Amino acid sequence: MNLLFLGPPGAGKGTQAKLIEERFGLRQLSSGDMLRDAVAKGSAVGKAAQDYMSRGALVPDEVVLGIVFEHIKHARMPKGFMLDGFPRTQAQAEALDALLPSIGRAIDKVLVFDVDDQLLIDRVEGRYTCTHCGEGYHHKFKPPRVAGTCDKCGHHDFKRRADDNAETMAHRLAVYHAETRPLIAYYQTQGKAVIIDGTAPIETVTGIIDDIFAADAA
Ligand code: AP5
Repeated sequence: MNLLFLGPPGAGKGTQAKLIEERFGLRQLSSGDMLRDAVAKGSAVGKAAQDYMSRGALVPDEVVLGIVFEHIKHARMPKGFMLDGFPRTQAQAEALDALLPSIGRAIDKVLVFDVDDQLLIDRVEGRYTCTHCGEGYHHKFKPPRVAGTCDKCGHHDFKRRADDNAETMAHRLAVYHAETRPLIAYYQTQGKAVIIDGTAPIETVTGIIDDIFAADAA
């Protein structure tokens, strides 16, 4: 199954994608992670993206399309993939629709994470990840079982994303409403959009997604 995760910053797309990857073997393709990796490596793509990302603006379509399509075409993903954070503009969505048939793939469902803005700000302000394995946490909604120790790998170092601050988050939300939210209608027209209540606790959202997999397998 090939899924697309659509939703505002902090809606829980990455959290659920990692859980699905573990349980169902679908490969998470996160455009944000690809771009952050490019920035960390100092590649040409990273240099082109850095300033946009630090402001919470969208990286230009041609830059994003290049790096995301490279992964879609070459990543090993026998069970399918989850596109997390891509597409974010009409042009990206149309380019994806043009690419997929040429590589024998199609999007089966678009999971739309519905969460209101104030809750998103709380989510992003409390988010941090393990520096060693990348496991994600939240100081209120998902603290480690033992304070200061990663549940997954046992390391003790954590980091926060540079763009997870109030000013950048306000801009990311405005960009989401102007550029990305209209894609919900685009995928509703294709009959692929499934709206999910992203305000529910993490395990409840996971259960909703499990039901979608079960219905698909039936
Ligand atoms: P990106 O990395 O994609 O960030 P984003 O869309 O802003 O989304 P986030 O990663 O912030 O949120 P998420 O939904 O994954 O939330 P999470 O699961 O972590 O993009 C970063 C930047 O890159 C963009 O601003 C842009 O510059 C650029 N970019 C990327 N893609 C692009 C594209 N296609 N085109 C152009 N530019 C692009 O959850 C958040 C927190 O909440 C966590 O702490 C988690 O533990 C907690 N949490 C999750 N779910 C729940 C729940 N149900 N209940 C309680 N807490 C929860």
